[in-house]
Amino acid sequence: MIGVLGGSGAVGRTAVERLAGFGLPLRVGGRDRARAEAVAGPGGGDAVAVDLFDDDSLAAFCDGCAVVVNCAGPSYRVLDRVARAALAADAGYVDAAGDLVAVEALGDTPARHAVVFSAGLMPGLSGLLPRLLLDGTPVARLDVYVGGSVEISPASAVDALLTRGPKFGHALAMWRDGGVAAHSLAPLRGVSLPGFRGRVHAVPFLSAEMVMLASGAGVGELRNYTVYATENLPEAFATAWADQERPPEAHADAIVWAAARDVAAHGHHYAVLAYARPPAGSGLLPRRVLLRTPDSYRLSGVTAAITAREVAAGTVPPGVHYASEALDPRRTAAELAADALVSELAVPEPAR
Ligand SMILES: NC(=O)c1ccc[n+]([C@@H]2O[C@H](COP(=O)([O-])OP(=O)(O)OC[C@H]3O[C@@H](n4cnc5c(N)ncnc54)[C@H](OP(=O)(O)O)[C@@H]3O)[C@@H](O)[C@H]2O)c1
Repeated sequence: MIGVLGGSGAVGRTAVERLAGFGLPLRVGGRDRARAEAVAGPGGGDAVAVDLFDDDSLAAFCDGCAVVVNCAGPSYRVLDRVARAALAADAGYVDAAGDLVAVEALGDTPARHAVVFSAGLMPGLSGLLPRLLLDGTPVARLDVYVGGSVEISPASAVDALLTRGPKFGHALAMWRDGGVAAHSLAPLRGVSLPGFRGRVHAVPFLSAEMVMLASGAGVGELRNYTVYATENLPEAFATAWADQERPPEAHADAIVWAAARDVAAHGHHYAVLAYARPPAGSGLLPRRVLLRTPDSYRLSGVTAAITAREVAAGTVPPGVHYASEALDPRRTAAELAADALVSELAVPEPAR
């Protein structure tokens, strides 16, 4: 049995749909049982009313599950709470969100099962897809661009507002020569990027996921950008972060509204582009990976479902992981390329 907590949400609905397609028995949970039932029913799963902040209700939800998939947010409040309940119920765990802060909260809790955080698009595929370029071919510099124009749910808006500080990443920084080079990059305004629609704004943000990627793979230089269709969202974030008096939640509506205005003007589109340059004089050619999707939330649900299936199948060893290092990049890319939610996935040939 796979339990999907938050299965009626933007991410969770697609996770449920794909897991049902894999033929796995499902339990779908949320505070509103009727909403969960509307999602679980078509796939033949059980619907359960559960509040993740109520210990007894959460324990009952996890009981009997082989894997618990958390698609409920906001992540900064969930942290390690559902992971701990899953492990206590002798189940594996997959989280569509959750990053270094959640992993640190879990600490050295013994994990007899696989626990996988960051199993969405960003973080998640944003860290996994660039690994297709780090397959033994020397890379002098890796540039990663992630973003586009999509609606933002209130839960994600608050998470996005709170992903600040060194545990989440470094604004305007790049990774260079084994460390974070602060204040080394400026925003790229009105640029054309392969896979992104029209002229976009790319704001440098060296996320914790990219630091892990660069340090683990020994990349000399890594530049990571969040891509916006207009200035609406960067301006809404800047206003929220400058507010010293009100909590981030007070600005969630402004973030949701800014994203909605982008979608009204530019439609739904989202892309991950990673571009690897070889060392000068190596004779090698640059290589790139490009993924395009109309819906980053639904594709996060696909990623969470693939990860949960792998955990259920025992291909991810016990212990705490991030999806970007727990999943096989080439096998996952092949599966994503065939998914209806991926409009394009261009992957380079493997290095010989
Ligand atoms: N990695 C990525 O790329 C990525 C992308 C998008 C989103 N995310 C993350 O995924 C999470 C969900 O986002 P979303 O946009 O899908 O949110 P959403 O549409 O608001 O859905 C939230 C879901 O969680 C349930 N829920 C909320 N509070 C709950 C509680 N206390 N107990 C049990 N269930 C609860 C909701 O159902 P009820 O209201 O009935 O309880 C609903 O099913 C967020 O943390 C977000 O940051 C990650």
